[in-house]
Amino acid sequence: MRTHYCGELNRQNLNQSVTLCGWANRRRDHGGVIFVDLRDRSGIAQIVFNPDDNALFVLAEKIRNEYVLCITGQVAERPVGTFNPNMASGEIEVVARHIEIMNVSATPPFMLDDDNLNENTRLTHRYLDLRRPAMQANLRLRYEVSKALRHYLDSQGFMEIETPMLTRSTPEGARDYLVPSRVYPGQFFALPQSPQLFKQMLMVSGFDRYFQITRCFRDEDLRADRQPEFTQVDIETSFMDEADIMTLVEEGIRRLFREVLQVELPSPFPRISWHEAMARYGSDKPDLRVDLELTDLTTLMKEVEFKVFKDAAHLSDGRVAALRVPGGGSFARSEIDTWTEYVKIYGAKGLAWIKVNERSKGEAGLQSPIVKFLMPVMNEVLDCVGAQDGDIVFFGADRAKIVYEALGALRTRIGHEKGHASAGWRPLWVVDFPMFEYDDEHQRWVALHHPFTSPQKGHEDLLGTDPGRALSRAYDMVLNGWEIGGGSIRIHHAEVQAKVFDALGISEQEAQEKFGFLLEALSFGAPPHGGLAFGLDRLVALMAHAESIRDVIAFPKTQRSACLLTQAPNTVSEAQLRELHILKMGK
Ligand code: AMO
Ligand code: AMP
Repeated sequence: MRTHYCGELNRQNLNQSVTLCGWANRRRDHGGVIFVDLRDRSGIAQIVFNPDDNALFVLAEKIRNEYVLCITGQVAERPVGTFNPNMASGEIEVVARHIEIMNVSATPPFMLDDDNLNENTRLTHRYLDLRRPAMQANLRLRYEVSKALRHYLDSQGFMEIETPMLTRSTPEGARDYLVPSRVYPGQFFALPQSPQLFKQMLMVSGFDRYFQITRCFRDEDLRADRQPEFTQVDIETSFMDEADIMTLVEEGIRRLFREVLQVELPSPFPRISWHEAMARYGSDKPDLRVDLELTDLTTLMKEVEFKVFKDAAHLSDGRVAALRVPGGGSFARSEIDTWTEYVKIYGAKGLAWIKVNERSKGEAGLQSPIVKFLMPVMNEVLDCVGAQDGDIVFFGADRAKIVYEALGALRTRIGHEKGHASAGWRPLWVVDFPMFEYDDEHQRWVALHHPFTSPQKGHEDLLGTDPGRALSRAYDMVLNGWEIGGGSIRIHHAEVQAKVFDALGISEQEAQEKFGFLLEALSFGAPPHGGLAFGLDRLVALMAHAESIRDVIAFPKTQRSACLLTQAPNTVSEAQLRELHILKMGK
């Protein structure tokens, strides 16, 4: 029906007759002249209705926001002084000669150009929200990203293979979404948390380089970067070690940023060990844009008078660490109080601090609630953290996990709030992860990645003797503080797999029951293999500078796992429940 898209018109179309189709973004009446901003997916064009054509003018007066219009007219230059530099088509307008109102619209529940919309309102009327140019741009970007990644993987000899959605529980460690079987009373499918086991079996089948852009399902507590269903760019290869795989996928991300954002990422991405990441940044996904670092003071605090620090330093997994913020001597007491409350979210019991006003004055030059207890080691402390006059030093003392999480979160918060963060893109790899972490609640070791991740060479024996010290062949790609991808070299020998199950407290019988099909597949000549999965939603959200992955998903769920648009989940009929054997016959 159309000859052009609205946003593509410019001076080169002057005097041409054009037909445009789209929505009335806004109608303005200006003393006898009516202007309509017509919007389609490409942008906006200004349409002018002059009063000399009476029939046309009467029709134009009927236009309301979001009416669907087909307009034919002539492209003309806007009068001098009325150019709109914010619009691609801002130097021209279309003088209407014919208009068809193709459909009317009820009054929208919100103004599309309101920047402060409530997210629930947006999600309830998502189809209207998606008309907004920002959302149109986000979904276009998402398409460009998946297209570029697919193209890159294809160029590297990868083949896309689909795997089932109705399957067994998979090992990523979140809660499953279950689907009751009608045919097998009392039995359930699980929706895949990832295609992990299938892609490993595809390697056993000899496909060598597999990828899939696919949906994964995890019933977890949601945050800005988590959705119950999300999309992975899932990759698996055979006969490649971790260095080869990391080089290959890293190049894919570099090309992606070059092609889609015209940004050149560093080559190679820096690599740091998990232990170093925790010790320096308090996080396994450090935001390297922030130039603040933690300093470990555990040994130094073993003999101090301040009981909180001393006790933590003597715990078997205790830590005392410091975060120095240059220039932080000027922070207000109220700000420090806010941050003290903030670190409590991460389990910290307090947030000790020292302001270094004038070091040369000794105790008199320091300001702090704890200074008198620390004086014997003060010089060493200040030297260790590199304190200068005008700085503030924060302290955390507790079990390592709490100290890292609390100071790590404080580091990024203060970094961004107080101007200690640079702009741009800071990718890195985190490597040398521990195989396991201890789950205090259930009193057992759990896999940090998943139970099919290979231990490092020479660490197989630790699995039985000292599981906490065993390192894995896992790697995470991190960008600006977000984990955008993770993977590992897998176990391809049955004996090693048995040791890992043993360390995880999974009995042989349980292993057979849950993963017997994979173990059997591994026994038929499984090649060495490994891979990785990118979180597509996170990658696109970062590239779009979106605050939440919800903004790059067409129809996302809320933070409480519901779809406000379709009102899912919802109740179903008793007949359906009976058919699925969830309600027993006769009840
Ligand atoms: P993992 O569980 O680390 O690994 O997931 C891979 C990537 O998926 C993204 N991601 C999510 N994105 C949005 N919402 C979620 N709930 C969510 N959970 C994870 C993250 C993460 O880095 N099978 C392994 C991969 C492998 O070993 O090859 C796996 O699923 O960006
Ligand atoms: P208190 O002796 O409890 O008054 O604490 C003195 C200072 O140490 C206060 O600034 C507390 O916020 C801080 N503090 C208390 N417990 C901890 C902890 N576990 N880690 C870091 N600082 C703490």
